[in-house]
Amino acid sequence: METRSVGSPVVVLRKASVADAEAIAALIQPYAARDLMLPRPLPQLYEGIRDFHVACTGERLSGCVALHVFDAALGEIKSLAVSPDAQHQGLGTQLVQRALAEARALGLSRVFALVLRDGLYTRLGFQVVERDALPQKVWGECIFCPKFHRCDEVAVAIDV
Ligand SMILES: CC(C)(COP(=O)(O)OP(=O)(O)OC[C@H]1O[C@@H](n2cnc3c(N)ncnc32)[C@H](O)[C@@H]1OP(=O)(O)O)[C@@H](O)C(=O)NCCC(=O)NCCS
Repeated sequence: METRSVGSPVVVLRKASVADAEAIAALIQPYAARDLMLPRPLPQLYEGIRDFHVACTGERLSGCVALHVFDAALGEIKSLAVSPDAQHQGLGTQLVQRALAEARALGLSRVFALVLRDGLYTRLGFQVVERDALPQKVWGECIFCPKFHRCDEVAVAIDV
């Protein structure tokens, strides 16, 4: 477990457990309803819970991110969300940094993300890449996206 201070109060960043799944779903759902991110139904969250890191402020879950491994080299950062009252204090950046640290520890060499806005990522050293530069398999989830026919996401990637 890791404790970091984001202003006040103290925020704890840690790997998610199954007990976090409902709170992660509740955090993501309002953003997914606004098409800001892909929905994550509970069964899918339980299946992928080992990918997730969470940020907790006291008892409350205030942020989440997932690192999904595609193969020996490539990982994806996904499902990044911070509760509205905790935004603009660096928490999203810390969650992405934590996912990158895990990618390094796992031995991945490259990590990408599909994002609506690239500022948070490019400030961390990610570069905007051509979507075609990513392997075909990363688009597997796209057919479930409500914006499949009007995709407005940018691909960013970093060597870790
Ligand atoms: C994206 C998000 C996680 C950032 O969390 P945060 O704790 O505010 O992040 P930080 O404080 O570290 O950095 C803030 C910066 O993130 C960037 N940002 C804002 N919205 C963003 C988005 N949707 N995607 C990527 N970056 C974003 C901005 O550059 C912002 O800078 P600002 O504070 O000067 O406006 C948060 O805005 C959020 O949960 N948004 C709704 C869900 C979402 O869009 N998730 C990303 C899916 S691609």
